[in-house]
Amino acid sequence: MTIIVTGGAGFIGSNFIFHMLDKYPDDRIVCLDKLTYAGNLSTLEPVMDHQNFRFVKADICDREAVFKLFEEEKPQVVVNFAAESHVDRSIDDPGIFLRTNILGTQTLMDACRKYGIVRYHQVSTDEVYGDLPLDRPDLFFTETTPIHTSSPYSASKASADLLVLAYHRTYGLPVTISRCSNNYGPYHFPEKLIPLMIANCLNDKPLPVYGEGLNVRDWLYVEDHCKAIDLIIRKGRVGEVYNIGGHNEMRNIDIVKLICKTLGKPESLITYVADRKGHDMRYAIDPAKIDRELGWKPETMFNDGIVKTIQWYLDHRAWWEEIISGEYQQYYENMYRGR
Ligand code: NAD
Ligand code: DAU
Repeated sequence: MTIIVTGGAGFIGSNFIFHMLDKYPDDRIVCLDKLTYAGNLSTLEPVMDHQNFRFVKADICDREAVFKLFEEEKPQVVVNFAAESHVDRSIDDPGIFLRTNILGTQTLMDACRKYGIVRYHQVSTDEVYGDLPLDRPDLFFTETTPIHTSSPYSASKASADLLVLAYHRTYGLPVTISRCSNNYGPYHFPEKLIPLMIANCLNDKPLPVYGEGLNVRDWLYVEDHCKAIDLIIRKGRVGEVYNIGGHNEMRNIDIVKLICKTLGKPESLITYVADRKGHDMRYAIDPAKIDRELGWKPETMFNDGIVKTIQWYLDHRAWWEEIISGEYQQYYENMYRGR
């Protein structure tokens, strides 16, 4: 089987490629990635020489390049991770989010229609459901929760989801969609909460917590997400949406304090800064459907996963130091200076 994985030089896509090449060494994985600021070819170094792996640098919006790749590879499965993924950047400049996340998805599906595939899988997010109030811990997102987006990022992901379902109904494209909660683990880009706090702690820099730090996210170890997608593309029902999450809700401030404690750094590094515009209060996934239909359950408990993750950042300083020494500096200045 040949699988095109888009966005495979990013956080979750790279972890998915490692998982797949390890578990199915006879399947061919072709990674299509534009290598934006979030894509890192060095991440894929361990598999670059694998006989069943190919890397192609291209934009999912580039119709000619995408169609050429489909012509060459004739994939059976496409898994689309490629996206602009950071909410704060989408608030700053929405345009690229609409282009990549919506039009890129359209381009990939048009290629799927032309060349024929067995499955197109869209990697989506729980953010399409909006947020839940803190005082209703009994409420969870299910697959039938109405779409109700907050940021340009989540609106672009929701638009893509609607387009994917439209291509299924209108053209009969065999699609599935997964909507996952917040991931953490190796190769997470240090603009996101957990890796940013680890990197800043290790550099004894202030830890910028938005608002009062009371917002709740539902954290899942990245490998568990990859295993869920693997199950969905093999056994999931065509035309269906599957929520993925591990019932692991935590307040931001508690995560930051845990990182300080694990690294032996003082909580006095914590600095409360102006809140994110339109900041979603609480995400909480009900993963009953994927458990019931596909037997998926999270395997890594947060207490173990966060220790493994922190250790990974300690062991791979060169990976993230290279990132934060480049254009990231300018990003950090713009996002956090005077906030
Ligand atoms: P990421 O930002 O780490 O990686 C995105 C990758 O996509 C990068 O390698 C980048 O170079 C590539 N890319 C961006 N634009 C492209 C384009 N136009 N053409 C080709 N490649 C392009 O993102 P991530 O955190 O790994 O997220 C992957 C997917 O999972 C996204 O679709 C995101 O919406 C979704 N998701 C993420 C999380 C999370 O917690 N990180 C949770 C649920 C869903
Ligand atoms: O829920 C899934 C989503 O999770 C994915 O779709 C997104 O691609 C992914 O980026 C993530 O979105 P969040 O906005 O939840 O993640 P982020 O790491 O940016 O922020 C997590 C929480 O931490 C959020 O409440 C904002 C807060 N935060 C974040 C940063 C970067 C801070 O308090 N300080 C920070 O410096």
